Amino acid sequence: MTISVVPAAGLGKRLKSGTKDVPKALVTIAGKPMVGWVMEALEQTPIVDGIVLVVPSSHRSEFERCCQALALCKPVWLVEGGEDRQQSVWRGLQALPSGTEWVIVHDAARPLVTPALLIAVWEAAREIGSAAIAALPCPDTVKRSLDGVLIAETLDRQQIWLAQTPQVFAADLLLAAHEKALSDGFTATDDATLVERMGAPIRLVMGEPTNLKVTYPADLLLAEALLQGRQQKGSCNFEANSPSPC
Ligand code: CTP
Ligand code: MG
Repeated sequence: MTISVVPAAGLGKRLKSGTKDVPKALVTIAGKPMVGWVMEALEQTPIVDGIVLVVPSSHRSEFERCCQALALCKPVWLVEGGEDRQQSVWRGLQALPSGTEWVIVHDAARPLVTPALLIAVWEAAREIGSAAIAALPCPDTVKRSLDGVLIAETLDRQQIWLAQTPQVFAADLLLAAHEKALSDGFTATDDATLVERMGAPIRLVMGEPTNLKVTYPADLLLAEALLQGRQQKGSCNFEANSPSPC
């Protein structure tokens, strides 16, 4: 069984979504809350059996209403998140139903994820037996600086990959990695970093350039344009993998 954990408990401070008290995942993009796009992509991905949605405790009821409006066929478990992303994923992992073999972690902040990418990463993780993540080769020349003023060195960009979600892990490996991080007091901004510390192999899967993370206001405009374009094309990305109605 494969369950997706969707961290959506951030408040989106860098997005500055106006004066409204709306957490980032509930900000509307192309007529739908950001998290709604993610949930629908997961619904339309046959390998996903259920979704653990991690939400801010301050806005639980709004997320409940959002899920009701989506009326998904797959089971959704709502869990309250923690202080940072890692804590939120950890809480999500505590809610995994027994029998979960594979976990797909996907941020609510990446509303453009497609079933094709979710399946590609899942297949790669299963093939290698441990984990895989979506990532993009770095298009820019990369400088390292110790102080943000002077360049210390130029890195070989052929060795640099920009991590995205989805990230897929064997459930027991991801749980062990989080437990170790917790006991070591180690924090990171993605789950692969925690699994790297376990020494387990993690495959890179070519991500999608459109699978952007909404962080700043300009990202919102870009995501809106891309999702509108996708809607106009009749959601062709999703149709090939659509399951039959439940
Ligand atoms: N996240 C979470 N719990 C937190 C913080 C973040 O579940 N305590 C989630 C966010 O909801 C998002 C993902 O982790 O889907 C990536 O985080 P980020 O893009 O940084 O979102 P925010 O933390 O909401 O944004 P900001 O850092 O600007 O406040
Ligand atoms: Mg954040």
